[in-house]
Amino acid sequence: MTPLPRDQFPAVNRWAYLNHAGICPLPVSSVEAMHRQALEVSLDGEFTYAAHSAAIERVRTSAATLMGVPSRDVAFVKNTSTGLGFVANGLDWSPGDRVVIPDFEFPSTLFPWLALADRGVVVDRVRGSLTTEAFAETIAAGPPPKLVVTSWVQFGHGRRVDLAALSRVCREVGALFCVDVIQGLGVIPARLEEWGVDFAMADGHKWLLGPQGCGVLYVRESCLDLLRPLEPGWNSVAHREEWDNLDYVPDSTARRLEGGMPNVAGIVGLGASIELLLAAGAEEIWSHVDGLCERIRDGFSEIGATVLSEPGAAYRSGIVSVRVGDLPMPLLAERLKARGIACSARSGGLRISPHGYTTEDEIDRLIVAVREILG
Ligand SMILES: Cc1ncc(COP(=O)(O)O)c(C=O)c1O
Repeated sequence: MTPLPRDQFPAVNRWAYLNHAGICPLPVSSVEAMHRQALEVSLDGEFTYAAHSAAIERVRTSAATLMGVPSRDVAFVKNTSTGLGFVANGLDWSPGDRVVIPDFEFPSTLFPWLALADRGVVVDRVRGSLTTEAFAETIAAGPPPKLVVTSWVQFGHGRRVDLAALSRVCREVGALFCVDVIQGLGVIPARLEEWGVDFAMADGHKWLLGPQGCGVLYVRESCLDLLRPLEPGWNSVAHREEWDNLDYVPDSTARRLEGGMPNVAGIVGLGASIELLLAAGAEEIWSHVDGLCERIRDGFSEIGATVLSEPGAAYRSGIVSVRVGDLPMPLLAERLKARGIACSARSGGLRISPHGYTTEDEIDRLIVAVREILG
């Protein structure tokens, strides 16, 4: 038995699907929720809106539960990049303000800060292994940064950053703390508020098992007024749907960042996926995936691979990256695809990312296939 029900994932009939760090296959309940919403609008147009609006608020609550934050602090956004952009462009910067960020990041996690160069913002990179000490050293090497940014889990080799420890370092120097959580949320239990994260964002299409282009942004209540809402619209104000009231009074919750019509189909689809995750239990999913990842590390070590992901319990995530044999890793990923095994090649490694419905048999199938391909 897997924590997530396999009959929710038709992809298992075609693939050993080990690429949740890329794009997940959608569960049946998510597809059905989106289909139902579209069908209802096809029949009743605007008369569906009140019910769909109430559904959106329920999804906000479940997303907040999964993130470990209050629901009033969650806004729906188009994707992770948009969430990062709301923080980068919403904060008030002065020339010389510092941002500290890991040296190697996913492009979307880095670019919003580099794009602030014309406002005099200085970006300092943390080199080498992403220990809390390495962050602290970079932070201490200059004036106190205005913001520290990191991915919770690095997209390439899957190294997890200790958010609670890093947030303490941020607090000591008065820095805000922004975390791209897309590579962790949905597979590793999250307590973002308790850990001291100020801003966090993720799209649905990886570990959340949701549709593409529908994500969540967390803004700690005490930080909300620090962000200028970049897309004010009818949905951003306290008195939304009072169409003749033209006073601009931003809503007191993170919803002020949602300008106009939300992506209703996407949000209800995401909601169904999050319900699956909550029903399975965050701890159960993580313990299952962590066990599968250990099997991946052991299996690849036995066939002489180099495991690029750090094995320490504090650093582990749902991603295991390995280098094996003489083939370029993208070619190996292609050969595996031809055998019905979905992985990806990133950062010089074969990136393997199972989820809560993956079986040990599927991991064993991967190892056997790699052994056969490499002869
Ligand atoms: C760390 C990280 N951030 C962001 C993204 C994707 O960003 P978006 O949701 O804007 O497409 C990825 C996708 O691979 C990622 O690994």
